[in-house]
Amino acid sequence: MQTYLRLENVVKQFGQFTALQQISLSIKQGEFVCFLGPSGCGKTTLLRSIAGLEPVTSGCIFQAGVETTHLPPEKRDFGIVFQSYALFPNLSVRDNIAIGLQNKGFTNIECINLVDKWLEIVGLLSEANKYPNKLSGGQQQRVALARALALSPGLLLLDEPLSALDAKVRSHLREEICQLQRKLGITTVMVTHDQEEALAMADRIVVMNNGVIEQIGTPQEIYEKPASRFVADFVGTTNFISVSMINQHLMRIGEDLLTVPEQLQDLAISGCIVDLAIRPESLYFCEKGKETISVNIEFIEFQGAYCQVECKLWGDLSAHSIYVNVPIREARKLNLMVQQTRYLAMDITHINAYPSEKIMLKSVVAT
Ligand SMILES: Nc1ncnc2c1ncn2[C@@H]1O[C@H](COP(=O)(O)OP(=O)(O)O)[C@@H](O)[C@H]1O
Ligand SMILES: [Mg+2]
Repeated sequence: MQTYLRLENVVKQFGQFTALQQISLSIKQGEFVCFLGPSGCGKTTLLRSIAGLEPVTSGCIFQAGVETTHLPPEKRDFGIVFQSYALFPNLSVRDNIAIGLQNKGFTNIECINLVDKWLEIVGLLSEANKYPNKLSGGQQQRVALARALALSPGLLLLDEPLSALDAKVRSHLREEICQLQRKLGITTVMVTHDQEEALAMADRIVVMNNGVIEQIGTPQEIYEKPASRFVADFVGTTNFISVSMINQHLMRIGEDLLTVPEQLQDLAISGCIVDLAIRPESLYFCEKGKETISVNIEFIEFQGAYCQVECKLWGDLSAHSIYVNVPIREARKLNLMVQQTRYLAMDITHINAYPSEKIMLKSVVAT
């Protein structure tokens, strides 16, 4: 697939404050990309820069092979949807969509046909003459989507379009947006702080933190191979377990000695401390064995389909808690109880490792 949108070393400063630092990325024709990161990391600023709503301080933006860096928004080819619907309250649903078409010089009959087409696509033809305040949040957001798409832009920009909606409506509209995007094949960038949303919807995710890109990858790559500790922590739940490397083949976790997984042997420098990153679903309770970790159960929380079991490394109460998700049927068999000592095995193919936070803290103190 061809590159549709390309950013090269985009920097955005607000006075002394740098909101975006040297952002470079390419988005392919028809791709659905999510900008994901905590509040304030620069997602909206980046989206607005692409739209020309925010002039960039330096760097270049290319869309469909043309440099757009200094073009005003009205000269760029995009439709945009914001979190806060942003419909005209004094116009009917129909006119909210028609007004943009009229401004672009479409005739009345063309407007009527296009408005009807898009209202039908978003399932709101029967609401055409209502005013926005008579619609639910989900319906208003569908109108905003129809309005953004009515001019058949080459690029759809969505800034937290689902964040203001309640859970049921959100997951429903999430599916609708995905299906519509695939059907239209429109290149789409969506901003979200919700990792679940990004994992579910995106072809690729751009994880951001403090104005920089931490990782770009498919949802699976981001989840299974987080490029940094930040990504491992921000996307999904991760247990960080401190281990000391004895040698290339042996590591100590709490009181136990275990084999160093193959993918971590490069990190296994004797005497070095690293943090293993393991997802709750990659740990399971078993009989004590050669490759098990002894833990003390601190807390068990019933979560419906599974129990979330909070443990501490045996004999190390100061260590971070380790969370294990045990499917409910399994939990009944295991008869887990608080304060028991139990044994955990790891799915070693799903372990990542990062420099220890303890060491990083020490070096901060030292300087
Ligand atoms: N117009 C502005 N003037 C000054 N600072 C701004 C402005 N817009 C955004 N910022 C700052 O830039 C950073 C990134 O903001 P934003 O892109 O809105 O983050 P996000 O969408 O990821 O929550 C924040 O620290 C915010 O306070
Ligand atoms: Mg934002």
